[in-house]
Amino acid sequence: EQTPAVDIALFGALGDLALRKLFPALYHLDREGLLNEGTRIAGLARHEMSAEEFRNTVAAALEKRVKADEREESVIKRFLARIDSIRLDFMNVESYAQIVEWRKGRTVPLVVYMSVPASLFGTISQHLQTAGCLDDTSRIVVEKPIGYDLKTSIELNDSIGSVFDETGIYRIDHYLGKDTVQNLLALRFANPIFGNQWNRDNISYVEITVAETVGIEGRWGYFDGAGQLRDMLQNHVMQVLCMTAMEPPASLDADSIRAEKVKVLKALRPITGDALRTNVIRGQYAAGQIDGQAVPGYLEEEGANTASSTETFVAIKAEIDNWRWKGVPFYLRSGKRMPRKETQIVIHFRQQEHNIFPGAAAGNKLVIRLQPDEGLTLEVQAKDGGLNAGENLVTGEMKLDFKTAFPQARIPDAYERLILEVMRGRQYLFVRRDEVEASWTWIDTLQDGFAEQGLKPEAYAAGSWGPKSANEMVTRDGNAWKEFF
Ligand code: BG6
Repeated sequence: EQTPAVDIALFGALGDLALRKLFPALYHLDREGLLNEGTRIAGLARHEMSAEEFRNTVAAALEKRVKADEREESVIKRFLARIDSIRLDFMNVESYAQIVEWRKGRTVPLVVYMSVPASLFGTISQHLQTAGCLDDTSRIVVEKPIGYDLKTSIELNDSIGSVFDETGIYRIDHYLGKDTVQNLLALRFANPIFGNQWNRDNISYVEITVAETVGIEGRWGYFDGAGQLRDMLQNHVMQVLCMTAMEPPASLDADSIRAEKVKVLKALRPITGDALRTNVIRGQYAAGQIDGQAVPGYLEEEGANTASSTETFVAIKAEIDNWRWKGVPFYLRSGKRMPRKETQIVIHFRQQEHNIFPGAAAGNKLVIRLQPDEGLTLEVQAKDGGLNAGENLVTGEMKLDFKTAFPQARIPDAYERLILEVMRGRQYLFVRRDEVEASWTWIDTLQDGFAEQGLKPEAYAAGSWGPKSANEMVTRDGNAWKEFF
């Protein structure tokens, strides 16, 4: 399928995201033959820089970010030739005439990519409109954070929405661009063996873990104002939860999928009162060790306000009040400075009521590894081997490791998929306005409750799985996280 040609106007082209992720992703698309010959990219930045200097900067970024065996001279040359550079004063509407100039005679859609702070989204959108850069084929791509709470997300959505139609707004949650997150749809809706079991009658509980080993990576200024709940839960974990819990969409059409996700978010039971102490655990990492290396605590990070009570870990027992899930806990957990980087979903299936084997029989467990080592493991019960084993059961594993099973497929970075879908004009991997707002509504209830009750995060050692109480939250129900503390 030929990808349509577009003009990409990249705001914040010298920023970290652009150089670390966006240009490498665009390069990979070019290498795979997925950038139309007619596609051009303008890097918009506040610094004066010739096109030549800018291309050199991009070339250096590719050198650093693209693996040596994936760097092809001829592709790099072709790719760099698509790139222009425009020095733009983002706040000054007159300077947008340069974009009009760059677009002269072009009929392909303009894709505006906002790799800049959210506080600029509104002004830039307005200026683009006033300067006459837009038409009804124009698209805008925005990154999180989409607001800081419901109120600010509405303001932000309003400011973009006053210029762009919802059908032209592409809100990125990069977790939706991960191949394995999309694979959840295939797993659930193309495999009746799982799809038919996917409900409260057959599943006793679900774990979703998004663990990171990194700390805040020098981003104190941003992170301390956000915290893990806003930085990871409100968006990435909620999206994974929605893909796990949603009803079958009628088709793969963007609005069918997004409508089902919104229903999950709206069915999430608000956590308030005493439940805030028992069903939500927040933690903040103290000094510890990651891979045998000593690492500082959150309050010792560069630029730290030593009195901060921002959380770097959060575990939540979430409940979805609908027919499919009533009574099934969804334990969500995400933290920085965990023992290993791992995003996984664990589905715990119920064991049948009558057990004819000696000893307690474990239920089936389906582990969906989203990253790294993408794949699936189904834990099954088997009879222990040998004449002496009697009727004892052991747990064995049926495994699907994506890299081994599909060796020809390179697992692309999330941004490659997302940029490709923007160019194709397909919105199914992007977050609709009502999803963002429904998610904030639920998160705001938590934040307000913490503030009212004066709740503070508990300390946990870097390199551990978070505060002990996050374990107790689950064992109290007779359940367990897959890893033990
Ligand atoms: C970002 C967060 O959205 O996602 C970061 O702001 C976090 O704090 C990152 O580290 C994790 O993404 P990934 O793809 O590495 O799991």
